[in-house]
Amino acid sequence: MNIAIDGPAGAGKSTIAKIVSAKLGYIYVDTGAMFRAVAYNCAQLNIDPEDKERIAKVSSESDISIRYVGDSQRVFLNGTDVTDHLRDEAVGNMASVVAPIPEVRSILLELQRKLARENDVVMDGRDIGTCVLPDAELKIYLTASSAVRAKRRYDELVAKGETPDIDVIEKDIIERDERDMNREIAPLKQADDAVLVDSSYMTIDEVADRIISLAHEAGA
Ligand code: DC
Repeated sequence: MNIAIDGPAGAGKSTIAKIVSAKLGYIYVDTGAMFRAVAYNCAQLNIDPEDKERIAKVSSESDISIRYVGDSQRVFLNGTDVTDHLRDEAVGNMASVVAPIPEVRSILLELQRKLARENDVVMDGRDIGTCVLPDAELKIYLTASSAVRAKRRYDELVAKGETPDIDVIEKDIIERDERDMNREIAPLKQADDAVLVDSSYMTIDEVADRIISLAHEAGA
């Protein structure tokens, strides 16, 4: 059984996917972390984000793998656990820049499909329902307005003691949505058979309960 959750940056996909996978006893696969690992690798090697050929070459020579410690996904780059370096805004924005490169997508697609073949998964990303797992038993398109998504991110950063500018956060979110939705390969888009969930005015528990009940209807 595979559940695909797609949607724009900051819609709450990973929070919800973690709750749903824990409730159902499935594995949570965070595909954004894989693209973030590619971005992190490029940043460490000082590669120009515009140098697509070099990014493709380095990515094909690098080993990205996933392991689970308990139910937490860890991402390994050439054998080193880089998970704790992947959540920065800069890495997320860079991930969206490297994500349109075909070689990067095809390397990660193999890894994503293998995990879904071998396990019951809740997999989140941008193209899971449309490209990676077109036969997923349940597809969710989780979204929220850009203002709500920016406010959630702002609150997270404030809770960490930072002093962010909410307008800059919203502008970055809108730019990232545009890149993710308008690229040629596997753009962010609601699959025809996905259920739309707009979380703008829903609590985390309400969203999780809705998806779990849809999962039960789908046979989970
Ligand atoms: O979900 P996230 O913020 O961790 O994703 C980071 C970037 O990676 C996102 O802006 C676009 C890219 N991505 C993608 O192209 N396809 C996916 N399945 C997941 C993420």
